[in-house]
Amino acid sequence: MKNTKIKFVSLFSGCGGLDLGFEQAGFQRIWANDFDENAQAVYRLNLGEIDGRDILTVDESEIPVGDILTAGFPCQPFSNAGNRKGVDDSRGMLYKECLRIIKAKMPKVIVFENVKGILSSKYIDGRNLPEVIKEDLETTFDENNIGYNVVYRVLNASDYGVPQNRQRVFFVGVRKDLNITFTFPNEQRNKTNLVLNQVLHIPAEVPNQVHWGLSPQALEMLEYIPEGGSWKNVPYEHLAPRFKKIRDNMKKYHSPNFYRRFSRAEICGTITASAQPENCGIIHPT
Ligand SMILES: C[S@@+](CC[C@H](N)C(=O)[O-])C[C@H]1O[C@@H](n2cnc3c(N)ncnc32)[C@H](O)[C@@H]1O
Repeated sequence: MKNTKIKFVSLFSGCGGLDLGFEQAGFQRIWANDFDENAQAVYRLNLGEIDGRDILTVDESEIPVGDILTAGFPCQPFSNAGNRKGVDDSRGMLYKECLRIIKAKMPKVIVFENVKGILSSKYIDGRNLPEVIKEDLETTFDENNIGYNVVYRVLNASDYGVPQNRQRVFFVGVRKDLNITFTFPNEQRNKTNLVLNQVLHIPAEVPNQVHWGLSPQALEMLEYIPEGGSWKNVPYEHLAPRFKKIRDNMKKYHSPNFYRRFSRAEICGTITASAQPENCGIIHPT
């Protein structure tokens, strides 16, 4: 039987978050790549085979042609949580690897995903980075001189059925000869099914349930944080010195909302890669 599924090639695949979504939406993954061994292990467990080489060492001829190319190129240099060195940090230039592969393959559609911080990042010459990416894709040509029509926008995962407030920038490029105008889908309005008390029914038979190993200091702070609260509920005398320093000068540190314990009536915050209580909502409501 003819396989009519639309095929995608995934670069910087990580543990496969984006790829899982693509597969669930009916697309067929034909190649994925990530050089991080832990990411590969999770990927293999959940999705399947993945090429584990540094993308810098992979020749375009070794990558199959897909209809869609997806890439969540490294976001640390652009992340609000990071030091925001922008493209001066060599990891920021990895998106150029995507351009190299796109130029050789000219897939019909390109999907880039990145953190919100990229919107205010600058390219080496001072230009706005998302605009540079858009322009680069618009002028990535094969011998037929066809580039891409590109749109980009911040999307919140919870507007599309995911029980997590996670804002990410999506770039979508459609090859010009296809004459398709891409528009982002409408946001879901009723989100009551995404709040924690709707999604925290963990069945007993789920394997590998391991509690997050928090430090004794973190565990002590948690004692004082009610459902829906944060580190701001912890009495000053129970704060570790580094937190006292921040509490002493909240204005200087922009009143960070560490140790959020989301309530059961809320949608969870962004689960970050490091998943430390300082910057993400991993604390159970109760
Ligand atoms: C932001 S993560 C991608 C997350 C992924 N899109 C997801 O949905 O799970 C970026 C990934 O790029 C990978 N990476 C960074 N430099 C790379 C390189 N030179 N070659 C291959 N992978 C690389 C990292 O290991 C990391 O997993």
